[in-house]
Amino acid sequence: MISKIKKILDKKNKSKIICITAYSKNVAEAIDPYTDIILVGDSLGSVLYNYNTTRKVTLEQMLEHSKSARLGIKNSLMVVDMPYRTYRNKKIALKNAKRIIKETKCDAVKLEGGSSILKIIEYLIKNKIAVMGHLGILPQSVKGKFKFKGKKIKERNKIFNDAKLLQDKGVFSIVLECVETTLAKQITKSLKIPTIGIGSSHHCDGQVLVLDDLIGLNETKIKFVKKFGNIKKNIRKAVNKFKKEVLGKKYPTKKYSY
Ligand code: KIV
Repeated sequence: MISKIKKILDKKNKSKIICITAYSKNVAEAIDPYTDIILVGDSLGSVLYNYNTTRKVTLEQMLEHSKSARLGIKNSLMVVDMPYRTYRNKKIALKNAKRIIKETKCDAVKLEGGSSILKIIEYLIKNKIAVMGHLGILPQSVKGKFKFKGKKIKERNKIFNDAKLLQDKGVFSIVLECVETTLAKQITKSLKIPTIGIGSSHHCDGQVLVLDDLIGLNETKIKFVKKFGNIKKNIRKAVNKFKKEVLGKKYPTKKYSY
């Protein structure tokens, strides 16, 4: 059987990779037929808990949401974000990555950063943990406003070199978050492994979005988010219908009663 990771690698230069976040079972089940990768992202901190930084997300929160999402995933590769400070050195990273994989049965973990966490990533991979990289904007490191990456030459070179270093250490793909278009293109062309873009142009090998943003459940004005649906409107419609029928004593009829 071809491993799920091999399937992702084989898509490079052939077919775009679809990656979407899910934080729970029913949502994961709904998107699984259409995704290659389901990411339990620490974006759940802002999306579900209104945190102003993903640094507040705990390992316990990631474990519980991932266990739920796992129940809905049959086909997609499941990746779980390692939250802030859970990979502050290689021993702690391995202990936590093993726990995440054991308890959530995910296929891989994602860590934010390049050269500064290279030794940690290398150690995880040596210990048979599949790792997805994350470069560009690193939400766990950002203080203040998010600005796109790759405007200045020094920054461009750093991101490009980091991408190469991560590939050399064995990550199976890299998320590029808000990386300037020509840099994202250059990185994607230079790597053998796929890049998954978010706000980083169509040149990436795949795209990732936060589900709640793309279905219009989470209100956001981020430039790269396109609203592909308006689920909030549909929820309100259904709940309003329910309310009207209850108030009008039309629900529950005999059919819905014991
Ligand atoms: O936390 C997350 O959901 C992510 C994606 C937005 C890439 O890291």
